[in-house]
Amino acid sequence: MITVRSDGRLFILDTIKTTYAFRVMKSGHLEHLYYGRKIHLDSDDGLAEQSEFAPGNTSVYNPENGSFSMEDIRLEVSTIGKGDVREPALGLVNADGSRTSDLVFDSYSVSKGKARTDDLPVSYGDDADVLKVTLKDKENSLSLVLEYGVFEDCDVITRSCVLTNEGEGSIVIERIMSTQLDLDPGEYLFVTFNGAWAREMNRNVQRVGSVKLVNSSCGGSSSNHANPFVMLGRGAFDEDYGEVYGINLVYSGNHYTCVEKNPFGKVRLVTGINPQGFAWNLAKGESFRSPEAVMTYSASGCNTMSHGLHDFVNSHIVSGGWKDRLRPVLLNSWEASYFKISEGKLMKLARRAKKAGIELFVMDDGWFKGRNDDTSSLGDWTPDPKKLPHGIKGICDKIRKLGLEFGIWVEPEMVNEDSDLYRAHPDWAMRIPGKAHSTGRNQMLLDLTRTEVQDYIIGAMSDVFSSAGISYVKWDYNRNFTDVFSSSLSASGQGEVSHRYILGLYRVMNALTKKFPDILFEGCASGGNRFDLGILSYFPQIWASDDTDAYQRAVIQNGYSYAYPQSCYTCHVSDVPNHQTLRRTPLDTRFNVALFGNTGYECNLCDLPEDEFKEVRRQIEFIKANRSLMQFGRFWRVRSFDEELFSIISSCGSTSSGSVTCDEGKILSWTISSKDGSEAMSLIMQSLAAPNLNRDILYARGLSDDVKYRIVNRENTYDLKGFGGLVNYVAPFHVKQDGFVHRVISRFYKMPSEKESHEMYGDVMMYAGIHIKPRFASLGYNENTRYYPDFGSRIYKIEKAG
Ligand code: GLA
Repeated sequence: MITVRSDGRLFILDTIKTTYAFRVMKSGHLEHLYYGRKIHLDSDDGLAEQSEFAPGNTSVYNPENGSFSMEDIRLEVSTIGKGDVREPALGLVNADGSRTSDLVFDSYSVSKGKARTDDLPVSYGDDADVLKVTLKDKENSLSLVLEYGVFEDCDVITRSCVLTNEGEGSIVIERIMSTQLDLDPGEYLFVTFNGAWAREMNRNVQRVGSVKLVNSSCGGSSSNHANPFVMLGRGAFDEDYGEVYGINLVYSGNHYTCVEKNPFGKVRLVTGINPQGFAWNLAKGESFRSPEAVMTYSASGCNTMSHGLHDFVNSHIVSGGWKDRLRPVLLNSWEASYFKISEGKLMKLARRAKKAGIELFVMDDGWFKGRNDDTSSLGDWTPDPKKLPHGIKGICDKIRKLGLEFGIWVEPEMVNEDSDLYRAHPDWAMRIPGKAHSTGRNQMLLDLTRTEVQDYIIGAMSDVFSSAGISYVKWDYNRNFTDVFSSSLSASGQGEVSHRYILGLYRVMNALTKKFPDILFEGCASGGNRFDLGILSYFPQIWASDDTDAYQRAVIQNGYSYAYPQSCYTCHVSDVPNHQTLRRTPLDTRFNVALFGNTGYECNLCDLPEDEFKEVRRQIEFIKANRSLMQFGRFWRVRSFDEELFSIISSCGSTSSGSVTCDEGKILSWTISSKDGSEAMSLIMQSLAAPNLNRDILYARGLSDDVKYRIVNRENTYDLKGFGGLVNYVAPFHVKQDGFVHRVISRFYKMPSEKESHEMYGDVMMYAGIHIKPRFASLGYNENTRYYPDFGSRIYKIEKAG
């Protein structure tokens, strides 16, 4: 709800649990008053800062407003040149070359309903309230409209801004932040999600002090180095306690978030397009729209913050036919075959997939003309006749005949120099004419700033997508920008290339998703190098990481879960030794971790031993039976492996039990509960096994306090060989490890897992916890012991009792 008071000078934006407020000062500037838990506001009395004398040697705006300095006022939008020496929201070069801007209040409007746009993705919703506040810089003939969207039920407020040149000359935008949050003094922690290829989304915590903290990307995409999502915690907080802000950007390009504490203790956060390398020319009459920022606040820890953001993404970002729709269980060919594919090989895999219960078969890289490794062919989107003698349609028809849907991999934004496309249009590749260029994965970017290149991609992809009954597309993007340049722009326009590229990409994605509304699109950028709300505005899911190792994947998925609902990140069960780490994790752990996202498979089902294949079939049945809960239920983080980081956050947590060191005995635990609290699934997983440490308590979440539930573990069987030579402890004769007898026993006898079953009230499960059966910890083993090697895990289904 938006309330405007004090004769149009006080603006109050309420969601169900939060309030955001600002006012027009006497000077005409917008003073930010408050963002936090919901409060009753009928005036700014006591909220507006009272000033009598400007501090020390600070500058004052003008003699009529001499009692304060811009550098110590909480502002909605800060500019350069009028005394505010903190991170600015705007950095402009005026027509006369000066860099001072001064934006004061002019007018406002309130309306209902927020629609998607065709150029830059934004959140949408019929019920959203929209406030537009217009500021003017009269001396420089500029207007800036701050646009706020209020999504009441998910406690989200969005903000973007539109700058218009109302003067005669041209101006240059060097910086335009989407939002700015000026907060009262306090102890804040800045939490970011950083990493690299195959190591995305590691949570990183920094104290906010007077040295600026920056979370940014500059390689062209939102990046795996620094996801645009950040959190700002105030005081002590953890998953279920304390004050925390979550801030994200609906943008897929270079982004920038900076937090600083000024000498008076106030904290400012700005977020928007990365100003590095950015310079946008705004001619007379032109406007520039910033990407949209997304803000939320929780007074009860990170889980509540995530729930608001998850609802927001599911309801107001993801769109099209796959919104809220259950996702199929797919098998992707990449780790089974890499580039070595052929119709025969793929059909063999597909037949096995069908037997396992897979619903969608995805042909990954390697299917197009001459593509035998990553050195050639990107750009030439016609099937390789040697590998697919009957074309895409041939294999697609056969796969559909088996009763499977068919999906395909493409990387449309790229070109290899060794390709017909590059030979025909070398100027379409992004490079600086006459200068040497750098490559990434042997490929170059197409210059998506150019309309003819965008049109080519739309055309080429339309041909591929309509060439057969394709129901899924994996859209990859495997390199970063270098040699940023477009020959279609003048020398002074080169600072626009990175943003124009993203605009071009959005045009292409918009056109193709509209043209093929039934196709399920999955974004990918070497895994999570472009995992953001911009991509999710068109594609409802993204390949979270090329790392499928269950242990690392758990950390990666834990990171994504802060900002993104689990239906958006795809998670595959893969082979062991894992292709990224050579680590062996138990099959049930690989499954259990993948189950807490959008689950699929990426392994060679043909090579899987029969017992494992049977288990995969059982897993797929389990996915199908539980996918509405798992894909669209409430995700709760209960414990994470790096809990000591969290104890820094809360300053009161203790880490793992006793005196274990390293990674031993560390626990990760998640629960997904249905929104009505009628059922839930919980995961508990350990890092490395520790001897003589055998107890675990599982804490459920999202249940009704006074309802009685039954909890049972998902039962399984285990290979006796997992006990190694220990079998001799009980065997009546000596069994040589991996010898004939050992192999025969392990083939015909599988150890059943322990059975766990309790009936308890919801509040007992959540607050007292379920004291589950002990792990094997070198203290003895029987049917009531959890077989629990390194990376062991269990999942538990919770349903109403009776
Ligand atoms: C990227 C993707 C992988 C796979 C390969 C194919 O690395 O992240 O999943 O599709 O490209 O080349």
